[in-house]
Amino acid sequence: MRVWAIANQKGGVGKTTTTLALGRGLAQRGQRVLLVDLDPHASLTRAFGVPAEPPPEGVLELFATPPRPLAALARASAVEHLAYVCAQTALATLERRSANQPGLGLALSQALARHAGQHDYVLLDCPPTLGLLMINALAAADRVVIPTQAEPLALHGLVGMRRTTEMVERSRRRPLPVSVLPTLYDRRTRAGQEALKRMQDEHGDRVWEDAIPVDTRLCNTELLVQPATEDGYPGRALSRYRRALEWLLASDAQALERAA
Ligand SMILES: Nc1ncnc2c1ncn2[C@@H]1O[C@H](COP(=O)(O)OP(=O)(O)OP(=O)(O)O)[C@@H](O)[C@H]1O
Ligand SMILES: [Mg+2]
Repeated sequence: MRVWAIANQKGGVGKTTTTLALGRGLAQRGQRVLLVDLDPHASLTRAFGVPAEPPPEGVLELFATPPRPLAALARASAVEHLAYVCAQTALATLERRSANQPGLGLALSQALARHAGQHDYVLLDCPPTLGLLMINALAAADRVVIPTQAEPLALHGLVGMRRTTEMVERSRRRPLPVSVLPTLYDRRTRAGQEALKRMQDEHGDRVWEDAIPVDTRLCNTELLVQPATEDGYPGRALSRYRRALEWLLASDAQALERAA
């Protein structure tokens, strides 16, 4: 089982869209995929059509005493091989609880350790804040995918996120490879082109050589979790994500080889 955290401390850079697109791509390759929504705003959960009220069972139950097993919280989706675990608004209160309950940072790692073998890939959709939920994701991940908007301000966010992953890597004493996925790229603007080039110059081969373009078809996340239609939607909108996925799988295979 491989665990990928899709994370960036900056909001609105395409984390949730990337989680859905990569998850769908993996499922279409026949892999058993579990998406975990770690964001109290629950955009991924909403994409699957689950309302906020009444609160669904989900990630919060991983932090209960005793914790619920992941398998009991996973829901099947309309896409074959693609399952998900819901986020709840009440996840926002976890940060306060963590102050007097040490050890909560490893709740997700422990749940995943007990879950091994049931899914081939687990993708963690992180909130845009460096708090308990993101720390749980980074502690549990085999790889971090950082979607980064190809625009000048987002580059600062990327530097901050790299620093965070290095800190986690040191404390857990296990490599945490980073892959940067340029997103929301508008090749018609000079600012976009320059930001992409700077990202690639400053972060080297950790950055995908291509970029996910701005594509309004990707905004309809509810359609991303439906089976393909006769006119090929949403397949065509996802073609660039399919290539990004191939690059990620190749990086992952290399990392596994090095570790062997
Ligand atoms: N390639 C794209 N082309 C056009 N719109 C996009 C693309 N990727 C994402 N979006 C849109 O941009 C917005 C932000 O995307 P998304 O929700 O995936 O980002 P996020 O990083 O998860 O945000 P948050 O930090 O709020 O969780 C959404 O409205 C989404 O539909
Ligand atoms: Mg999101």
